[in-house]
Amino acid sequence: MNNSPVFSECTVSAIHHAAQALKAGHLVAFPTETVYGLGGDARNPDAIRRIYEVKGRPSDHPLIIHISSISMLEKWARDIPEYAISLARNFWPGPLTLILKRSSLVGDFVSGNQDTVGLRVPSDPIAHQLIAEFERLSGSAIAAPSANKFGQVSPTSSADVQEEIGIKLSEFDLILDGGTSTIGIESTIVDCTGGIPKILRSGFVTKENIEETTRTEVSEDAVNSRVKFSGSFEKHYSPKCRVILGASEVDGSGFLALSHIPTPSSMERLAAPNTVEEFARVLYSTMRAADQRGFTNLVVVQPEGHGLALAINDRLLKASNGR
Ligand code: TXA
Ligand code: MG
Repeated sequence: MNNSPVFSECTVSAIHHAAQALKAGHLVAFPTETVYGLGGDARNPDAIRRIYEVKGRPSDHPLIIHISSISMLEKWARDIPEYAISLARNFWPGPLTLILKRSSLVGDFVSGNQDTVGLRVPSDPIAHQLIAEFERLSGSAIAAPSANKFGQVSPTSSADVQEEIGIKLSEFDLILDGGTSTIGIESTIVDCTGGIPKILRSGFVTKENIEETTRTEVSEDAVNSRVKFSGSFEKHYSPKCRVILGASEVDGSGFLALSHIPTPSSMERLAAPNTVEEFARVLYSTMRAADQRGFTNLVVVQPEGHGLALAINDRLLKASNGR
């Protein structure tokens, strides 16, 4: 049973209460524009240990530290290259995480013993207010992974958070409800520790966006990256049902495709997004719906094209484990 209160009205006083809970070492799940995060005080080893425990995540997988603005960048990172500053100026607040050399404030317990740190300024207004209020109260920042069990589908609503980890939260932890995440897949992660930016995880901010901003060539060769990166595990972002890619007909399966693609008669349509953006927004909730409704298989016709379509396909490939 889940004992942690859910705040559906994120008033100023609810956010203040949540920031105080973080300061006291408790965990707060909160909405962001990408997916919901499970937040804890980035400077509190006990709070961070609990995040790993609640998620069942190996402790050597680093957490992203969420800050309120670009002005906090130098507090948490050092030796920041010019191109990283350009990226932060252009895409923050927003769905972009920068990997930088860590400052002395970043403990081993939050960075998986690496000498780097992932930083992001979310644009969701509740996330922003919570982070800013917590910074004001504590002088720290909020470390947060996606609020799902390790290897499973990221939550895009507070109900998803409940379903994923509710049972592991205590009566002192909180869940803030900010509706459905507007983007729906995790932030783009760019390693900024080398001479050129390197994309470790694709997302709403595309390779083209990054190249245009930094005026440099961008590497997508995440496999050869020096940094450890859990999203790069082959099977990840996975529902319980089998995700089958392509237009194959599998009797009795759930079906997800863009709205102009007709539903094969032997399958049941679970969502019909009109655009690639909408596809990203409903992707994880559709996987969840397939599980909740007991489908053994979910057939997905992948959206084509560059940019966000590539990020969707990355998640689908991992969810399908190459099937
Ligand atoms: O959109 C997002 O990024 C969401 C929201 C809540 O901000 N967060 C998120 O966190 O997706 P998480 O922990 O589920 O995924 C972050 C990924 C992990 O695979 C982690 O290993 C990698 O980023 N990561 C974090 N810090 C890193 C670092 N210093 N070096 C390399 N990879 C890092
Ligand atoms: Mg995650």
